[in-house]
Amino acid sequence: MAEEQLTGIDRNLTTYGDPTFSRFIRRAFLASQGFDEEDLGRPVVGIADTSSDYNTCHGNMPQMVAAVKRGVLEAGGLPLVFPTISLNEILFHPTTMFYRNLLAMDTEEMIRAQPMDSVVLLGGCDKTVPAQLMAAASADVPAVFCVTGAMRTGDWRGNRVGACTDCRRYYTSYRGGEISEPELAEVQQVLCSTPGTCMVMGSASTIACITETLGLMLPGGASPTSGSGDRLRNAVASGRAAVKLARDPVRPSEILTKPAFENALKVLVALGGSTNTIVHLMAIARRAGIDLTMDDLQSASDKIPLLVDCKPSGSVYMEDFHKSGGLPTLMKALETVVDPDPINIERRSVRDRLEDVDPPGDWQNVIRTLEAPLGNTGSLTTLRGSLAPDGAIIKTSAASPELFEHEGPAVVFDSPEDAANRLDDPATDITPDSVMVLRNAGPIAAGMPEAGSLPIPKRLAQKGVKDMVRVSDARMSGTAYGAVVLHCAPEAAAGGPLALVEDGDRIRLSVTERRIDLLVDEQELEARRSRFTAPSLPKRGWAKLYAKHVLQADKGADLDFL
Ligand code: FES
Repeated sequence: MAEEQLTGIDRNLTTYGDPTFSRFIRRAFLASQGFDEEDLGRPVVGIADTSSDYNTCHGNMPQMVAAVKRGVLEAGGLPLVFPTISLNEILFHPTTMFYRNLLAMDTEEMIRAQPMDSVVLLGGCDKTVPAQLMAAASADVPAVFCVTGAMRTGDWRGNRVGACTDCRRYYTSYRGGEISEPELAEVQQVLCSTPGTCMVMGSASTIACITETLGLMLPGGASPTSGSGDRLRNAVASGRAAVKLARDPVRPSEILTKPAFENALKVLVALGGSTNTIVHLMAIARRAGIDLTMDDLQSASDKIPLLVDCKPSGSVYMEDFHKSGGLPTLMKALETVVDPDPINIERRSVRDRLEDVDPPGDWQNVIRTLEAPLGNTGSLTTLRGSLAPDGAIIKTSAASPELFEHEGPAVVFDSPEDAANRLDDPATDITPDSVMVLRNAGPIAAGMPEAGSLPIPKRLAQKGVKDMVRVSDARMSGTAYGAVVLHCAPEAAAGGPLALVEDGDRIRLSVTERRIDLLVDEQELEARRSRFTAPSLPKRGWAKLYAKHVLQADKGADLDFL
């Protein structure tokens, strides 16, 4: 039999120069695990397991793996679990974004190298699912996505709290002198009350919703909380769906079409979702051979208003979104403006999937309708201008409207470390009108950490200043709030205009005009440009490979050879 016709356990044979021997020896080794011909005649479903003691957001992964395996077995498949890198946002240095592409490579290569007819990708925390989506697009093996699910909320002195919008809110209150250190310590103990992902519409929740929108997850799979029966039933059903896919493949390349991405951008805007999703979608689209641009995002943003009342753009949490119907209900609310044709892993079109879904009920207030939205259009606004010729982004739904039109003097920080050292130094001249500029925090210089939402300097926070304009080539957490201009491209380390800013330069932000400009004349900028020297890059290992090949934010910050 030609190798390309082999299925199940005979896929991707080890090269010994004799395929018959490869099949013989493979069965010999599998016999040691108790597998007989009946087992080995079944469709093989790989299960990518991202368990790790370092990943609290995947704390329920063993339970999820068991549930997926049960679904695979019930449907007559052979489940084979394999480990990949696991990325936790909070326990990784310098940032999980630096490792997203490594996980994408790891996952893609493990799918390609091992025998499987389909794969269930189990992720959750911010960068795991984007990396797995990139891998699925490249490997093009039928894939089902399943997430660990959001944590449930905790309670502090009668106030509902959750990670991590409230982490930042209480920390800001502490810096502003509104709560004491012992009180902050009490809050710390209840912010993450269960295993699971951050329970606001941060990066993890947003990308889960986007994965469901794209069609790579079973309907309703994005929002069940971690540890709930809904979550486990979705995992079992995903196992069964993967066996169906193994027998009757629907490949990611059939699902990841331009209209599917356009629908995803509309959902992103309606969610008031994480800015990080934009970088990830650019990377996934690039892998899928789809030309997705910042203009596509702006076009979605111009049409779609904010519909979901979840923090940080709104007031409640993922469990409330789930109880209100989750992504299917939101898609129903968007039915007249999304493309009805893209299919999902069940080969069902959006039109078909929404047939039996009810529109947002008046018994809830979390998912709104296009006729009565929560906010205006433009929750995510793309910017261009002399500070970001290739684009930047601001999440207006999580920023103070009075700063949408703002001009002020620059206060420049040369790196996240420089900001940490000088932000609270009284010698650093900052007023509420200042525009704080952070550079050398882009993909090449620093792996693009979530450092863009610089804290309000303590002395200003204590005077009640809650928001200021901040501009950087970094990202910010999907759970963060503020008038923060992010992802300026090209970044400073690539010679982008952020490298030329000096303290006291005037910077103008105009959300209405969608511009971020450095108000310095071209002759002066040319003189500064001639003095620019690029920072030295790492000399070995992953850091060297990454810095040499990483693309800018507007291209998804993937490696150029992937
Ligand atoms: Fe893992 Fe927020 S830190 S989802």
